[in-house]
Amino acid sequence: AAGPLADRLGRPLTDLRISVTDRCNFRCNYCMPKEVFDKDHPYLPHAAMLSFEEIARLARLFALQGVRKIRLTGGEPLLRRGLERLVAPLAGLRTLDGAPLDLGLTTNGSLLAHKARALKDAGLRRVTVSLDALDDTVFRRMNDVDFPVARVLAGIDAAMEAGFERIKVNMVVKRGTNDQAILPLARHFRGTGVVLRFIEYMDVGATNGWRMDEVLPSSDVLARVSRAFPLVPLEATAPGETAQRWAYADGAGEIGVIGSVTRAFCGECSRARLSTDGRLFLCLFANGGHDLKALLRECPDQAGDDLLRGRLAEIWRQRADRYSELRALGGPLPAGTARRVEMSYIGG
Ligand code: GTP
Ligand code: 5AD
Ligand code: SF4
Ligand code: SF4
Repeated sequence: AAGPLADRLGRPLTDLRISVTDRCNFRCNYCMPKEVFDKDHPYLPHAAMLSFEEIARLARLFALQGVRKIRLTGGEPLLRRGLERLVAPLAGLRTLDGAPLDLGLTTNGSLLAHKARALKDAGLRRVTVSLDALDDTVFRRMNDVDFPVARVLAGIDAAMEAGFERIKVNMVVKRGTNDQAILPLARHFRGTGVVLRFIEYMDVGATNGWRMDEVLPSSDVLARVSRAFPLVPLEATAPGETAQRWAYADGAGEIGVIGSVTRAFCGECSRARLSTDGRLFLCLFANGGHDLKALLRECPDQAGDDLLRGRLAEIWRQRADRYSELRALGGPLPAGTARRVEMSYIGG
């Protein structure tokens, strides 16, 4: 290839998020509201989903284009049976400079107690668990399937016992719904090595009824946490990282804030997303993707690999997305963004 792959804004392709299922056993209101994702919702049929072999093949080709980091998502990725059989081949991939990929998983934690060991043994390096409250009543209401907080905590414990490189907890903060959970969660995970991250509630998809007044800005979250536990800023670990990192001044570990609404990070966004059915999306707020499945299935050989690599490069070079920045600027949004794909389909 001629030089590193860059999009129209000069951003490299270094991260790939892979959604392995569009289903979830939770119904978080900000992601899969019950009224929309009911039993009649048209989930993808099995034949439309990429097989593990197909995903691993694409992941290898992405690595050859410069991808260094892969995150498995969903829906709820652990609902995909035998996910460890996908982790193993991905864990064997190398970056262009020969290092193992940074391989992670974002999960709701409900099945993690059963799965942590097998995932670790298969080579998964990092796990991030979503957890929106410590109070059982609030948590059951937020997941909207009456799932108890204790079982998610048991999943996090299992992940700690399995010895993952780094465990993070994601809390989506909705003002007036769970913002009272900020300090209890901070207190709970301080000193455990688990990195807690507070995420601004985003206008992803077209079904969650997002309103700006339900967003609690990350600056407010930091003010609240630092009043109880003083914080000092940390350097970013990688360009284009979603989270701003902060350390507890007393040495009890670190937290992060993901301010994609009030402090967009499109400028260095290096992420592409592969949907369960093999479409490539270049922005979380995209309304359309690029089908890779047809080519993948029609050309299973080396010539197909070359065609696919060319296609990936061509798609990335045309990319100019920066939805969150445009939204923050308050000007017109790109045509069609009112029909954004759902996050459960492209994995966040
Ligand atoms: P790390 O590698 O551990 O930093 O993970 P991550 O933050 O990249 O991924 P994770 O799945 O934990 O996502 C955290 C939050 O950031 C979720 O709410 C995602 O939807 C959001 N997020 C991830 N990538 C992007 C992005 O490119 N744009 C926006 N706006 N949000 C993103
Ligand atoms: N805004 C912000 N974060 C969200 N997530 C899901 N929906 C939203 C939203 N509307 C989070 C999940 C998970 C991560 C992949 O994205 O809680 O931690
Ligand atoms: Fe499921 Fe995660 Fe969406 Fe909640 S945020 S409904 S756990 S995919
Ligand atoms: Fe990247 Fe789109 Fe998120 Fe901006 S809004 S950081 S371009 S995925």
